[in-house]
Amino acid sequence: MAILLPGGAGFIGSHTAVELLNDGKEIIIIDNFSNSKPEVLNAIKKITGKEFKFYEMDYADRQKLEKVFEENQIEAVLNFAGYKAVGESVQKPIEYYTNNISGCLVLLDVMRKYGVKKFIFSSSATVYGEPEKIPLTEECKTGGTTNPYGTTKLFIEQILKDIYKSDNTWDICILRYFNPVGAHESGLIGEEPQGIPNNLMPYIVRVAAGQLKELSVFGNDYNTPDGTGVRDYIHVVDLAKGHIKALEKLDKEGKGLFIYNLGTGTGYSVLDMVKAFERATGMNVPYKIAPRREGDIATCYADPKKAKEELGWIAEKTLDDMCKDSWNYLKN
Ligand code: WQD
Repeated sequence: MAILLPGGAGFIGSHTAVELLNDGKEIIIIDNFSNSKPEVLNAIKKITGKEFKFYEMDYADRQKLEKVFEENQIEAVLNFAGYKAVGESVQKPIEYYTNNISGCLVLLDVMRKYGVKKFIFSSSATVYGEPEKIPLTEECKTGGTTNPYGTTKLFIEQILKDIYKSDNTWDICILRYFNPVGAHESGLIGEEPQGIPNNLMPYIVRVAAGQLKELSVFGNDYNTPDGTGVRDYIHVVDLAKGHIKALEKLDKEGKGLFIYNLGTGTGYSVLDMVKAFERATGMNVPYKIAPRREGDIATCYADPKKAKEELGWIAEKTLDDMCKDSWNYLKN
């Protein structure tokens, strides 16, 4: 029985593929390389010393997807095939709604047809919109997303709740990621944003490498200890391990729809990140204070207690690891 990973060549998918293979699981990756590279597949094999099946295709291609389900014994699906660039989603809402929502619906429909009802969904802290309180618990209200990317996550969460209500033989786990950063310690897989990065860590790394002149710190007048935005940065390998724990829970207990925050529970400011990066790598990160970025909130971090209690999962890597591994990947 195999675990299917649409988008398994991407940033979070590839790290989760490694953890699944290391855990002795059989996996199948589907990817159309729309935001990833074929070399990632060899890197996963090199890191783990294991083989897996791969299909180059769009996960929303129903005919091809059905063939994958016909040719293999699939027991669970972890969907990493969503588009994830916030800014781009504002420019291309139709592409985002089509790929993320219509694509996911095709996947869920094919799963139902083949009687595969174990599903782990990559959601985002973005679904909380303007936080009701900090730290964010899974019970906090969701909604009020400020861009199509976030709205696709919110809508798919609702779709999954409705599917579970209609048929409680599904086992569904929604994982709300906070701010994934870092890379595998081997330096062989990591994040590869296209063009100029929007997210903080990839930007810092490129400034340190001299590829970009300086970091613009978006606002220093927030109601936070140093005035800059505070976020819950989580090492991608910790995040990947959260999926293993979620899968274990569905395997052992099953029958339910579960929601977990995957964060560290600690918030760091933009300037904390700059200092931590400089300390961890010995590199210099020039920055300037710039106006606030539209749609940003002051503070966002998780209460990760539920994942600890129910999944036995906590983030173990330090901020130092996150900085070192991000840098190591870029150097490689
Ligand atoms: C972090 C902090 C910025 C860039 C987004 C998505 C979220 C998730 C992760 C997943 C903020 C500041 C940033 C820069 C800066 N997506 N910043 N200068 O906005 O918390 O979350 O990415 O796929 O859903 O919304 O992350 O890394 O963009 O920003 O000062 O050049 O860094 O203002 O305070 P964000 P981020």
